[in-house]
Amino acid sequence: MSDTKIHIFDTTLRDGEQVPGCKLNTEQKVEIARELEKLGVDVIEAGFPISSPGDFRSVQAISKAVSEPVITGLSRSVENDIKTAAEALTYAKRPRIHTGIGTSDSHIQYKFRSTREDVLERAVAAVKYAKSFVEDVEFYAEDAGRTDNEYLARVIEAVIKAGATVVNIPDTTGYCLPEEYGAKIRFLMENVKGIHNAIISAHCHNDLGLATANSIAAVQNGARQVECTVNGIGERAGNTSLEEVVMIIRQHAYLQQYHTGINSKMLYPTSLLVRERMGMAVQPNKAIVGSNAFAHSSGIHQDGVIKKRETYEIIDPLDVGVDKSTIVLTARSGRAAVAYRAKNLGYDLTKNELDVVYKLFLDVADVKKEVEDSDLTNIITTEVRTSVAAE
Ligand code: KIV
Ligand code: ZN
Repeated sequence: MSDTKIHIFDTTLRDGEQVPGCKLNTEQKVEIARELEKLGVDVIEAGFPISSPGDFRSVQAISKAVSEPVITGLSRSVENDIKTAAEALTYAKRPRIHTGIGTSDSHIQYKFRSTREDVLERAVAAVKYAKSFVEDVEFYAEDAGRTDNEYLARVIEAVIKAGATVVNIPDTTGYCLPEEYGAKIRFLMENVKGIHNAIISAHCHNDLGLATANSIAAVQNGARQVECTVNGIGERAGNTSLEEVVMIIRQHAYLQQYHTGINSKMLYPTSLLVRERMGMAVQPNKAIVGSNAFAHSSGIHQDGVIKKRETYEIIDPLDVGVDKSTIVLTARSGRAAVAYRAKNLGYDLTKNELDVVYKLFLDVADVKKEVEDSDLTNIITTEVRTSVAAE
């Protein structure tokens, strides 16, 4: 096994649940948290305890129900938030308080109407206060993606000195390019005194479709924790998708020095549970867990996959908990796909039979978007096997 572990911090139940219409009750959150434990995530962000009594109860219930992963609750750099998070985490076997503050000039000037020095002091005070409740404290520098690197380094150095065990560098607005975000992580690795006393965490949003790419760039530059959600759900365009990060690290030759603790065969079942409970569908072309992720419909691809799956697939579907690849029969399908599907249905067609079936198949395919097994069976049994047999 590769030697560097990348910790998977799942925030489906906090950032993910911020999606309009995705509200879950405590029972559903506990069910998902149990599934995440089976999946093998290292950290579950169970909620934002000060935000509502319901969220407080959910964090508390998850803390009781789940024992393997670290359980964390979000708070602002406000004493009452931090105290409430600590109370909600009382029953957690491995509690972590996740506290922080905006560090970009935009947040400092417009959100807090404050100064860089004041924000730095508030960050340090929050970490110290959180440390009075738990040993494990994660600090987030909100909007770090647009924060000046020199100032960010000062804040991160100060919070590590105050006891932060994990430092989260969110690209809150999903603005950074992978090269830029990777360079930011590298800058912190090289310029923050004491950086080796904490884990750097990547937390990326997907406003420009770059959340996964940015998270991987962070790993390549020193981050050892990635914050993500199942199916990539989250504020606006979503968060980094857990299944994408896990499979990139697992599959890619450039990343073989890293591993995660995720049981990849649970990825698809977990995705199904989250979409079901949140009532949020996944786009068919979503990487790893979309319904078309292992479906082949063009004749050229189908011919290749039938001969050898690896010609057009870089992941074995079984590795992510999907039964098998599918050959979808459409007007773009070739004879090889029709013969293959007929064989799966129990009809080993001769060359003559296939000629007739294929012609009739194209007539149906031009009318229907997708030719079903029942259509193919119908063609074979009513039109071909009888007529060819009769010749
Ligand atoms: O995107 C973000 O900055 C966040 C923080 C609150 C961690 O979700
Ligand atoms: Zn976020």
